[in-house]
Amino acid sequence: MINFFIKTYGCQANVADSQAISNFLTNLGCKKVEIEQQADLILINTCAIRAKAEQRFFSYLGVLAIIKKDKKHLKVGIIGCVASYRQKEIRRRFDHVNFVFGAKENLFELQTLLSDFVLKIQMLKQFVSDQIQNSLVSFDKRPPSLKLLRTRRTSGEKLPNAVRGEPVEPYEQSKSLLLGGFKNNKKEFKQSYVNIMTGCNNYCSYCIVPFTRGREKSYLLNLILERVKRDVQNGAKEVVLLGQNVNSYKDPQTGANFATLLKKVAQVDGEFWVRFVSPHPKDMTKDVLYVMSENKEKLCGFIHHPLQSGSNKILQAMNRTYTVEQYLEQIDWIREILPDATISTDIIVGFPGETEKDYFETRKVMEKVKFDNIFSFIYSPRKYTKAATFKDDCSAKIKSERLEALQSRQVEICYDLNNCHVDKILKSLVEKRLANGKLLARTAGNHRVLFDSDEEKNGNFVNLKIEKSGAVNIFGYLIE
Ligand code: SAH
Ligand code: SF4
Ligand code: F3S
Repeated sequence: MINFFIKTYGCQANVADSQAISNFLTNLGCKKVEIEQQADLILINTCAIRAKAEQRFFSYLGVLAIIKKDKKHLKVGIIGCVASYRQKEIRRRFDHVNFVFGAKENLFELQTLLSDFVLKIQMLKQFVSDQIQNSLVSFDKRPPSLKLLRTRRTSGEKLPNAVRGEPVEPYEQSKSLLLGGFKNNKKEFKQSYVNIMTGCNNYCSYCIVPFTRGREKSYLLNLILERVKRDVQNGAKEVVLLGQNVNSYKDPQTGANFATLLKKVAQVDGEFWVRFVSPHPKDMTKDVLYVMSENKEKLCGFIHHPLQSGSNKILQAMNRTYTVEQYLEQIDWIREILPDATISTDIIVGFPGETEKDYFETRKVMEKVKFDNIFSFIYSPRKYTKAATFKDDCSAKIKSERLEALQSRQVEICYDLNNCHVDKILKSLVEKRLANGKLLARTAGNHRVLFDSDEEKNGNFVNLKIEKSGAVNIFGYLIE
């Protein structure tokens, strides 16, 4: 039995890819383990979005060198976004890395590569164990050669299809690799992560994704629907549709757009919720909002709508191709068509050329919209991107101060917004039991609600009466 371990950095697309790869390896007969030391194959799925994410990966890679020293048959593979653009360097610098496979490469090849490595590890493990046995039984018996071993192992014992050199239903397997998999944690409720597209054509001037994931490519609507149906039948209570730019989705067969995809997903039988990340304001259209409003039972009233900056000058330098006025008009559409929807956003502070005035324009938009949540980052220069060549005369200290002030203000806004829910009854989906003994559930608007119950209710929809709230969590009790 070959044990594998996957460490995942980065966005939900990476989580989905890792899960699909886990499924593939499990189908090959391997076993997923939660501790690196127990693994024969370790995969690291990397993220390149900011320098920090990369640094975390490189220090982890250093730790693996120590494990590998004591375990000769251990194979280490680097996949994902850093693997896409630093392939040669990783190969050159790290002897203990056996393969590097980038996020924009052909997933068919990753399947073949993984199957090959599974075979190699199997043979090496057998070789070592034969050596030990031979040395115990007879000192003058020479260990079998790898070639002989391969013949013996592949002819006799029952090995996984790919290892025996038989077809592994490549079409079926690739489908699941492309579209991702469950965000699997046995103790939690079942959440299905579905890649509806990959790559990005937008070339925001700060962003490395178009270079690591390649051009935008939508997957077949029928395959996506098949996946959703299957996952719901297998117990998924939440389906998350993923892409770097979901609202530019276009079915390669019929040309159907994102609104049509959402409508069709909402028509799948069963009790489940649907979310999606991320749309791009340049492709925001009212038809998506209308479909959401007509299918509230399934399509969550939750929109992640990335602003990035509240200054038109900075938005232009970022190549975001919309203005603050257009963005705010879209917020009005959302409020009008989906009055209960929550809105979250992404903001970058300290983009090259961002003055105090630009920063306060972002703060002004925050005050106007009152986002339910903000993911905020200090600009991180990335190789190959246009912005990496821009003059940046704002100090690191000022950038940190801007970020901190923005985040502190957002905590206050969250506190006030969450307070509005007190005394309401909110339908919520139970996710897991927390270390403090409380159950964590999420509302359609993605609010965290904590409540007490002795029963394990993971994956159940419950009605919770809200008693009090904080900036991050809301507290409630069960209404039968
Ligand atoms: N495709 C999605 C998200 C991409 S990455 C979208 O366009 O919304 C998630 C977020 O990371 C981005 O929205 C942006 O806010 C942030 N980000 C991307 N590149 C960055 C960089 N170089 N420095 C800091 N933040 C960055
Ligand atoms: Fe990056 Fe912009 Fe594409 Fe999002 S839309 S992945 S921020 S280039
Ligand atoms: Fe990171 Fe690649 Fe996702 S850079 S954010 S893992 S697309």
